[in-house]
Amino acid sequence: METKGKILVTGGAGYIGSHAVVELFEAGYEPVIVDNFVNSKETALKGIAAITQQEFPCYRIDCTDKQALQDVFRKEQDITGVIHFAAYKAVGESVKEPLKYYHNNVGSLITLLQVMEEFGVNNLVFSSSCTVYGIPDTLPVTEETPVKKANSPYGNTKQICEDILTDLANSGSSQVKTIALRYFNPIGAHSSAQIGELPLGVPNNLVPFITQTAIGIREKLTVFGNDYDTPDGSNIRDYIHVVDLAKAHVVAIDRLIQGKAKAIEMFNIGTGRGNTVLEVVNTFEKVTGQKLNYEIGPRRLGDVPAIYADVTKSTQELGFKTELGLEEALSSAWQWEVNLKNSL
Ligand code: NAD
Ligand code: WQD
Repeated sequence: METKGKILVTGGAGYIGSHAVVELFEAGYEPVIVDNFVNSKETALKGIAAITQQEFPCYRIDCTDKQALQDVFRKEQDITGVIHFAAYKAVGESVKEPLKYYHNNVGSLITLLQVMEEFGVNNLVFSSSCTVYGIPDTLPVTEETPVKKANSPYGNTKQICEDILTDLANSGSSQVKTIALRYFNPIGAHSSAQIGELPLGVPNNLVPFITQTAIGIREKLTVFGNDYDTPDGSNIRDYIHVVDLAKAHVVAIDRLIQGKAKAIEMFNIGTGRGNTVLEVVNTFEKVTGQKLNYEIGPRRLGDVPAIYADVTKSTQELGFKTELGLEEALSSAWQWEVNLKNSL
């Protein structure tokens, strides 16, 4: 079958990666997965297969292992581009175990870039994060908003990776072109409820904590503070449906392959809208009919009071626009949680 090209997806069994694999396939690409399953399960591959009615090659290797990565590039031969999701992402853990984070997140990018250069693969989409903006002085944040000192080793790994990619682009000695997507807060699941977020242990993030509370795994949600300078006192975030986010990767790969990208480009990937934590809670209750047990607790150390994206650049230059809203995202997250319970 003629496809638009073979795309290596590192971290392709993970939360965002699994959704990207589905969207790549639906857009006519041929995804090849690389994952060491440190933060994912084989069931993600089953979910992908159930949606696409296809099985994609999956290499169970570590991206910091150069030889193993070289073997994949050698075996697959004609890789057109790479989407690099593989990384650790738990902010709190990164404070306690910084070397683990620097080694995996920075080390895997460097190894991957070396192997891409060796095999002449020049198109890269990199998973960056709105965490690079730290606590911004102005809202919404544009791509020109200054990057502030990271408030966690995890955040710092994303800044360092962006710096490495920028240095490489400016070196004049590399053919690799990169689009770094700065995601805001991805939530939700595929409409089939076959793939979704699979937190191992107690979730750090808001929406899996909400769905696990509603289904009875957790006793109650603690809202971390209602005394911020926001309309209802709780934090503001830009929550983007993971399926929309996955589609942004397809648009970015298209742009790279069509030769429209500069050596390095950064794009905010969000909805452009901010919602408070309490709005998320209320919307969840409304769309699912579930009463959520929650209480207001103290602020969480290190939380940014408010952040949401200015999406002008990603709309105009990348041609990306979100299609799904908070209600659809929360309802899909709930369907996924219910499906997980039923599949036990
Ligand atoms: P995830 O943990 O679900 O997915 C990451 C995948 O990479 C996992 O399947 C894991 O097993 C794999 N992995 C990790 N290290 C690896 C290695 N060395 N070799 C091979 N596989 C490895 O996380 P996610 O939420 O899908 O995040 C994907 C990317 O997006 C990460 O780079 C993350 O930092 C970034 N990001 C995530 C968020 C978010 O809120 N989820 C926000 C901004 C940016
Ligand atoms: C969202 C809001 C919490 C849990 C993190 C990373 C960031 C990026 C996205 C990767 C906040 C509140 C949460 C709870 C709560 N990841 N909350 N009770 O903190 O915006 O960003 O994930 O790059 O780097 O820091 O996401 O989902 O943890 O929190 O009240 O039990 O929900 O205070 O306002 P966050 P989150």
